[in-house]
Amino acid sequence: MTARQDSTAGQIDPVVCTCVDLTEGQLRAEIAENPALGFDDILQRTGAGTTCTACLLDLEYIFSRAERGPAAGVHGRGGGAKAEAAHLGVKQRLYALIDGLAPKVPYRLANTLPVLALPGLRQFVCVANDSLLYRGAESAPPTRVELRVRDANGILRHRASHRVESGDGLRVEVGRFVTPHDPTDPARPAIGSVEILRRAAHPGIRGTTRPQIVIEAKAGCCAVHGQAAHVTAAPYWFTFLHRPAEERCFVSVVNVSGGTLRGRVRYPLGIEGRTPEDHPIEVPANGAHLHELHFDPESVQSDRPISLNIHFDGLHKAHFLCASPSLDRFSIDHL
Ligand code: FES
Repeated sequence: MTARQDSTAGQIDPVVCTCVDLTEGQLRAEIAENPALGFDDILQRTGAGTTCTACLLDLEYIFSRAERGPAAGVHGRGGGAKAEAAHLGVKQRLYALIDGLAPKVPYRLANTLPVLALPGLRQFVCVANDSLLYRGAESAPPTRVELRVRDANGILRHRASHRVESGDGLRVEVGRFVTPHDPTDPARPAIGSVEILRRAAHPGIRGTTRPQIVIEAKAGCCAVHGQAAHVTAAPYWFTFLHRPAEERCFVSVVNVSGGTLRGRVRYPLGIEGRTPEDHPIEVPANGAHLHELHFDPESVQSDRPISLNIHFDGLHKAHFLCASPSLDRFSIDHL
């Protein structure tokens, strides 16, 4: 956040609209001097919030709580609750109504992501408690992050709890808790999963603690953010380029339930004259599975787009991974 030093008081005055270089102190002064003006009038008068609009929520928040001068009239402090409500924007009034009906409580956020294990490869979970440039304790409350690392069979291998303060970050190497198939064989990756549970110490309304996994291989690094697990009624699709000389492709599936997950990956789709095959997959409770895609080189041309679709009968999260033939570089995306 940009800020200016107030030379008279020696205090920091944060810039609330960088497009017009307006500080919070200047905004509050405008509001105090013109207590009868509504929110839109203040924006027109100062120019704040009218360019990129990124600051609008902050401006509205400050406006709704600002001190007003004695000539406040209907929008001033002397008008009681009705007057107080009158100067709130429509969104603020709506939020106040919702908050009155259902007081804020922090709730638990959960993501489960794959963990690869291979000699020479390191995998991390990263959680940044980021205010996204919003200010105040509600923007990025301290958050408790619990990690549960499991192997492919769903057996718990590591469990730990961390507190991540506002503006701070967490980086934990989780790959070391999953054992490679063969510590001397860098050709066949093993898989496990990491469950990442987050709960804020008190209610927050902005900012993010969305977790990421980072996969560091010998020749490159990739990352993907966590997403909620899902159950889908219909198969979902993914299209990619087939370049067998340059890369190996995998689909990973983590089972986010206490029961066995059953489903399949079907490919190749979209190839004329080629009947797709089903590759059945069964994943134990809380386990994980890594399926390497293999194609019949006779019927699938290189450098052509191929589709696959995926269907499972329970709560899960799937990812698509590409790797160099020697597995010294990976890229990953969520499906
Ligand atoms: S930061 Fe305020 S309009 Fe761009």
